[in-house]
Amino acid sequence: MQELSTDLILSGLTTRIIGRQVFCYPSLPSTMDMAREKARQGVSEGTVIIAGEQTAGRGRLKRSWLSPEGNIALSIILRPDIKSLPYLIMIASLAAARSIEAVTGQKAQIKWPNDVLIGGKKVCGILIENELKGNKAEFSIIGIGINTNLKVAGHKEIADTAISLSSTTGVNLRITLIRALLAEFEELYLTLPEGKPIYESWRSRLVTLGKKVKTTWGAQIIDGLAESVDESGALFIRDDGGALRKVVAGDVTLRG
Ligand code: BTN
Repeated sequence: MQELSTDLILSGLTTRIIGRQVFCYPSLPSTMDMAREKARQGVSEGTVIIAGEQTAGRGRLKRSWLSPEGNIALSIILRPDIKSLPYLIMIASLAAARSIEAVTGQKAQIKWPNDVLIGGKKVCGILIENELKGNKAEFSIIGIGINTNLKVAGHKEIADTAISLSSTTGVNLRITLIRALLAEFEELYLTLPEGKPIYESWRSRLVTLGKKVKTTWGAQIIDGLAESVDESGALFIRDDGGALRKVVAGDVTLRG
C-alpha cells in the first residue's frame, strides 16, 4: 500500500485553493474533528485533512463509517458565503463522481442527496458539518469517504449495498484519486456564487429521479415516486396517495 504523505499529494496537484495546504495523518479518530480544530485555529480556506485510516469515522444520520487503511478519508475546510451552503452537497458528490469516473473509467451515479454509486452500490459517502454564527458561516467541513480498499464482504451490514474500487479495478488508486477529487472540487467551487450549472449537473446525475423510492427521516416514512429536486437540494416525492411531499433530509432506498 502506497503511504500517504503531504509531499506526494502536493506533487502533481494543480489546484489554487483546495489542497494547497494538506495535513496527512496515518490514523485519526475522524478527519471531521481534526478539521474542526484546525478551522477554529484559523487555517486558510481549502485546507485538507487526510487520514490513512479512521478509528471512529462517522456518517450521515449518526451512523458510523468504515475507514480502514487504504480507503480515502478526508475533510476539506471551506469558508463559504451562507448562500452557497446548499450547493456544497452537490459540489462534493459531483466532484467525487467525476473523479471516480475519470480515474477508473467506470460510470458513477448519485443517489439523493449525495451518495456516489457504481453499478448501484455505494462507493462514496459525504458528510457536511457547518459552524454558523448568526447568519454567517464561520466554516464548513466537507467530509468525503471513498471505498478504495474496503473488503465489503467482511462486513455483513454493507456486504450487499457497498462496493470498493479495489475490487472493480484490481489496484489501489488512492493518491491519484485524491488529486483528481481535489481538482474537480475546486473547479466546481470556483464557479460559485453562480449555482445553477452545479444544480443542473447534479440533477442530471441523480439515479433517484423517476424511481419508486422509500424515504426515511426519523419516524417519517414516505413511499412514492421521486419526481424532482429543486435548487436548494430538496427532493419532491409523489406519495402513493397522490400528494407531492418535500423531503429536505433523510435516507432514500430505491424500490424495485
Ligand atoms: C455517509 O454516507 O453516511 C457519509 C460518510 C462520510 C465519511 C467521511 S470519511 C471522511 C470524513 N470523516 C468522517 O468521520 N466522516 C467523513
